[in-house]
Amino acid sequence: MDKKFENIKQDALVKINNAQSVKELNDVRNEYFAKSGLIAALMGKIRELEPSTRKDYGQAVNNLKLFLEENLGVALEKTRSSELRARLASEKLDLTLPGRNFEVAPQHPFHLVKDEICDVFIGMGYMIAEGDEVEEDMFNFTLLNMPENHPARDMQDTFYINEKLLLRTHTSPVQARVMQSKKNEPLKMISPGKVFRRDDDDNTHSHQFGQVEGLVIGEGISFSHLKATLDLFAKKMFGPKREIRLRSSYFPFTEPSVEVDVSCHVCNGKGCPTCKGSGWIEILGAGMVNPNVLTMNGFDADKFTGFAFGVGIERVAMLRYGIDDIRRFYQNDIRFLKEFPKR
Ligand code: DAH
Repeated sequence: MDKKFENIKQDALVKINNAQSVKELNDVRNEYFAKSGLIAALMGKIRELEPSTRKDYGQAVNNLKLFLEENLGVALEKTRSSELRARLASEKLDLTLPGRNFEVAPQHPFHLVKDEICDVFIGMGYMIAEGDEVEEDMFNFTLLNMPENHPARDMQDTFYINEKLLLRTHTSPVQARVMQSKKNEPLKMISPGKVFRRDDDDNTHSHQFGQVEGLVIGEGISFSHLKATLDLFAKKMFGPKREIRLRSSYFPFTEPSVEVDVSCHVCNGKGCPTCKGSGWIEILGAGMVNPNVLTMNGFDADKFTGFAFGVGIERVAMLRYGIDDIRRFYQNDIRFLKEFPKR
């Protein structure tokens, strides 16, 4: 009997030593310890034995069981930890490896200049107001002193959506919207955004472009405030040596109205192709808010005055970067876009 158990032990040791993985060791364990395994079978035989030999036999089986448990336990422990080490090694990250190179896109000149314009006015304490690109005829025209059939409506060819709705032709309707939300409270706001006109596209006209609208209302706001503000704006955008000049103009929502020129930043005012030889470049329209506009939008025109201005974003960008065709802003030519600085 001893010999038989010794053989079983040796046989089991060989299997345990040959097992290559935790899974194979568990298979070996099952072979001995499962319900239908060898240990259970050996225990089952006890009933067939002479009562006098049962004790020794039982002890021998128990011995075998302890031997197997001990050896399987040690082997499992060893194999488990070496499997874990192998897994950790395979999952190891080398944090010193340089990362993958993501190419940062350059900024679009439109946004570059729009942000720069906004920053100048944010620095002067203006708030930003957003308007909608689909606007009511009422806000785009009527509340800006252009009632139906007003000839000034023809200054801007309009995409109508229906009788009441249109694609805004300028950012000025945001003036009316902000005035109506404040009513007799002083305000300083700018509103950047897209506008649309039924123009045929060429190198200086586009059916879609950007404007930044500005509006300041308060008690005692005068034309000299407007002039000083625009002078500072021109210097910040085009350099400290720039001067501005104002030419009389007409907009229905301002009175008086002006067209604002800046001295040419390319030739310093001497005359060159950029300024078409005049030394001056037109950059925006502005004026004192027409009292009718103040009244229609809820302000007491006897108490409050204001100034307003509208800047074309592409126009400023074209001057700043020497871009000769407004269509470049929407053609998405990667060679053009790559010329601009990254974020
Ligand atoms: N809305 C005008 C346009 O699109 C630009 C403009 C001119 C805006 C004078 C103003 C202003 O606020 O005062 O042509």
